[in-house]
Amino acid sequence: MPAERKPLISGNWKMNLNHFEATATLDKLRYLLAKDDYEVVDVSVHPPFTDIRTVQTFLESEKVPIAIGAQNCHWEDKGAYTGEVAPPMLAKLNVAYVIVGHSERREIFGETDVEVGRKVKAVFTHGMTPILCCGETLEEREGEAHHGKITGQVHAGIEVLTAEQVATMVIAYEPIWAIGTGRTASADDAQEVCGWIRAKVADMKGADAAAAVRIQYGGSVKAANAAELMGQPDIDGALVGGAALDPDEFAKIVQFRLA
Ligand code: 13P
Repeated sequence: MPAERKPLISGNWKMNLNHFEATATLDKLRYLLAKDDYEVVDVSVHPPFTDIRTVQTFLESEKVPIAIGAQNCHWEDKGAYTGEVAPPMLAKLNVAYVIVGHSERREIFGETDVEVGRKVKAVFTHGMTPILCCGETLEEREGEAHHGKITGQVHAGIEVLTAEQVATMVIAYEPIWAIGTGRTASADDAQEVCGWIRAKVADMKGADAAAAVRIQYGGSVKAANAAELMGQPDIDGALVGGAALDPDEFAKIVQFRLA
């Protein structure tokens, strides 16, 4: 991994932890992680929207260098979109990273490639960094359709962006069959797809953008497999679901180099 691609370990809390539990979780994490850890790894947490203000207050007052993330947003700045949250609202809370197009949003809530593309653009417009998710179902993998699916998702997510924007963003490869199943992609399989994504970014946006874009792997990442996954040349971090709810486990993932 080139030195300039600092790994990003992100905890996607999904629909878990209320704001009291969020504070308790981060309070533990604060003691488990040290200054040295943040020098070699970027860390973000992605709580539910209702926790973000509390998380911001806690991290900023305690001076914990964990970046604040969101799990989703709308593409418009404001308006009659009941139940949605606008990107400038997140930016006001110092949100740095927004997960866009998670497979649960796509599969359960019917989010389309077109909507995902609009969201990625809106996140950039408000000075935040998108984490664009892509990944195939088990049927698609077994039918050798995964490369085509992922190429389409990445294309739709980055086509309207400049090469300079793509260079600063994050793409997360999350095979759907590995999410919450305990069934991790092998390090070789994860590397193969992350390398493929980087090659497609090079085709679409040029070699410089491809060399700089950070590509995370997600899907049953835990302390026991983090080092092997992150040791792959095209894997620059992890998007962690279940294991991110346990501060001891998440801290060990952040400290994967010590494993
Ligand atoms: P798990 O780590 O629970 O498999 O979830 C992965 C994920 O979806 C992160 O966004």
